[in-house]
Amino acid sequence: MLNGKNILFGVTGSIAAYKSLEIIRRLTEEGASVTVIMSESACRFVSPLTFEIISGKPVYTDLFEGYVRHINLVKEAHLLMVAPATANTINKCAYGIADNLLCTVWLSYEGPALMAPAMNARMYRNSIVQQNIKSLAQRGVIFVGPESGDLACGEEGVGRMSDVSDVVDTVKCILAQKDLRGHRILVTAGPTRESFDPVRFISNRSSGRMGFAIAEAAHRRGAEVTLISGPSMLKPPRGVSFIPVERATDMEKAVLKKFRKATSAIMAAAVCDYTPSERNKSKIPKKKDFALKLRETPDILQKLGKRKDKRLLIGFAAETGNDKKRAQDKLKRKNLDLIVFNDVTRRGAGFDTDTNIVSLMSRDGDIHDLPLMRKEEIAESILDWIAKHKSKPR
Ligand code: CTP
Repeated sequence: MLNGKNILFGVTGSIAAYKSLEIIRRLTEEGASVTVIMSESACRFVSPLTFEIISGKPVYTDLFEGYVRHINLVKEAHLLMVAPATANTINKCAYGIADNLLCTVWLSYEGPALMAPAMNARMYRNSIVQQNIKSLAQRGVIFVGPESGDLACGEEGVGRMSDVSDVVDTVKCILAQKDLRGHRILVTAGPTRESFDPVRFISNRSSGRMGFAIAEAAHRRGAEVTLISGPSMLKPPRGVSFIPVERATDMEKAVLKKFRKATSAIMAAAVCDYTPSERNKSKIPKKKDFALKLRETPDILQKLGKRKDKRLLIGFAAETGNDKKRAQDKLKRKNLDLIVFNDVTRRGAGFDTDTNIVSLMSRDGDIHDLPLMRKEEIAESILDWIAKHKSKPR
C-alpha cells in the first residue's frame, strides 16, 4: 500500500522511541522507504544503529554533516512525521526554531506532516504545549494521540504515545489515493444475533473482518463511511460513523435509514436468514427435547435492490461449493451491480479467517477470480471496482 512513498521519520527524546522501531518496521513492510532523523536526546534512548538496521538506510542526526542536508532530505518526501514528538520539539516546531537537523527539516518541509506526541501528563496539560499543538493543527499538522494510561514516570494520565497500529493507520490514511472522495459508502458487517430468551441466541460464524476492512479502506480512500455491524470483537475503524446492531430487523432499520444518502452500499454482513418466532421473557428451563420455531428475516439486500436508483449495490454470496450460477441468480434476484462470490469450504476461505478466496461477478457477466488474499486486500479490490464504476456523487 505504501509502495513508492518516501517518509521522513523524526524521532525525539522520549522512552516511547522504542515503539518507533515497530512503526518503521510496519511502514517498510507496506513498501515505504523510511529515512530517520534523530534528535540528540533521542540517541540517548535508542541507538541510531538500531534505527539504521530497521529502516535499512542511513540515520541522520547532525545538521552540519553533509551539504545542505535539510533541503535535500525534504525534496523527495511524501510525508514528514515525528513519533514520538516531545513537548520540546512540538514547541520548537510551532515557533519555527531550527536549532537541530529535525527542526530545520521541519521548517523547510512543505508537504503533509504528522506528529505523535509523548510526554508526561503535566507537560501535556500545560497551556504552552496545548496552544502550540493547536497552532500546528491549525496549520494542517495531523496529530495522533496522545492516549491516556500509565506513563513511564509512574504517573497516570494523558501523555502516552498512541499504539503502533493507530500511528501506522493514520500514515496510510494520509498517503492513500483519495479516489473515493465525495462518495458516501454504507457498509454492513458481522453476524446478526437472534435471541429466543434473555441468555440464548442463534447466530453464525461471521467475525466482521471483511466489512470492517472495507469500511476502513473506504475511509482511507476519502469516502464518507457508515458501518452498520452486528456483534463483533473488532474495534470500529477511526473516522468511520459506526452503528452497532443486534438483530436482522435492527440492521434492516438502520440500513434503510442510511441508504437514502449513500452513493454505494456493500452488504458484507452475514444476516441470519431465520429468527426465532417468539422471544421468551425469561430463561427457558432445560427440557429433554426442545424445538425452536423459526421464521424468515427480512432480506435487506433485496429491499435495497428495489430502491437502488443510481447507487452501486454490492452483495456477498457465501456458498458451499463452486456454484457460480447460484451467485449469478442471486445478483439478478437482488438487482445488484456486483456480487462477491466465495466458496466457504475452501481452505483459507470463508468466515472467521484473515483470508478469503473470492470472485467478483458483475452484472454484465464479467467474472474476476482473485487468488487467496488477506481480507484487507480483497477490500481494496472491491473498492477499486467501485472507483472504476462509480457514477458521479449526487
Ligand atoms: N442478506 C441480507 N438479508 C438477509 C440475508 C442476506 O441483506 N436476510 C444479504 C447478505 O448481506 C449478502 C447477501 O444477502 O450480501 C447474500 O446472502 P445469502 O445468505 O448468501 O443469500 P440468500 O439470499 O439468503 O440466499 P441463499 O441462503 O438461498 O443462498
